[in-house]
Amino acid sequence: MLNIVLFGPPGSGKGTQAESIIRNYNLLHLSTGDMLRAEIAAQTKLGLEAKTLMDRGELVPDSVVIGMIENRLDAPSQTVGFVFDGFPRTVKQAEALDALLATRKAPIRLVLSLVVGEEELTRRIIARGKTSGRADDQNEEIVKNRVVEYRNKTEPLAKYYAAQGKLKEVKGEARVEEVLADLCKEIDAVK
Ligand code: AP5
Repeated sequence: MLNIVLFGPPGSGKGTQAESIIRNYNLLHLSTGDMLRAEIAAQTKLGLEAKTLMDRGELVPDSVVIGMIENRLDAPSQTVGFVFDGFPRTVKQAEALDALLATRKAPIRLVLSLVVGEEELTRRIIARGKTSGRADDQNEEIVKNRVVEYRNKTEPLAKYYAAQGKLKEVKGEARVEEVLADLCKEIDAVK
């Protein structure tokens, strides 16, 4: 299976690029952010609990997102692989994902890390906030909080995957199509 992690700070382009990658390679997109927003829209208990944390730009508990991913991996599908977007975000989540995929004999093949400077991240997210309706896109303080969460809890994962020889950095500030071409080169090299 072609299992890929799209890794990078908030606003680096994970969701945008995931959409094209799944089309090009016939993969399934698993975004924990999208799953959580669907729970909020459906006003489930999980969604209402997650919303308070998400609106502040903080991560939701590991157990919640690991459970959601496990359910998706267990759902019947004919897919030849998954694109994980916004997951894993902590070392605990990464270890859990490795364990879940080990039992399915389908390990992560590649971790694509999108590199974008902080000024550009903030510009993109605040611009999107004008139309996205996302509470966590609305002001610079919340965006800053999301970036702090990323630096403290998620960035250490780069070392985790580098130690496995799976991490590839890709510059994420070019036009969307150019970034996609660079990502596809990396995917084609492991396919
Ligand atoms: P999540 O939904 O995962 O948000 P995020 O990681 O903060 O990512 P974004 O969706 O903001 O950015 P992106 O990198 O996908 O970029 P995008 O393509 O959208 O998480 C939201 C919250 O849910 C978290 O804060 C947390 O509370 C919770 N959560 C989710 N997963 C979790 C987990 N695993 N554990 C714990 N908590 C979790 O692009 C951004 C904008 O830039 C768009 O407008 C796009 O059009 C534009 N853009 C993209 N590429 C380019 C480009 N090359 N040039 C110019 N503009 C571009």
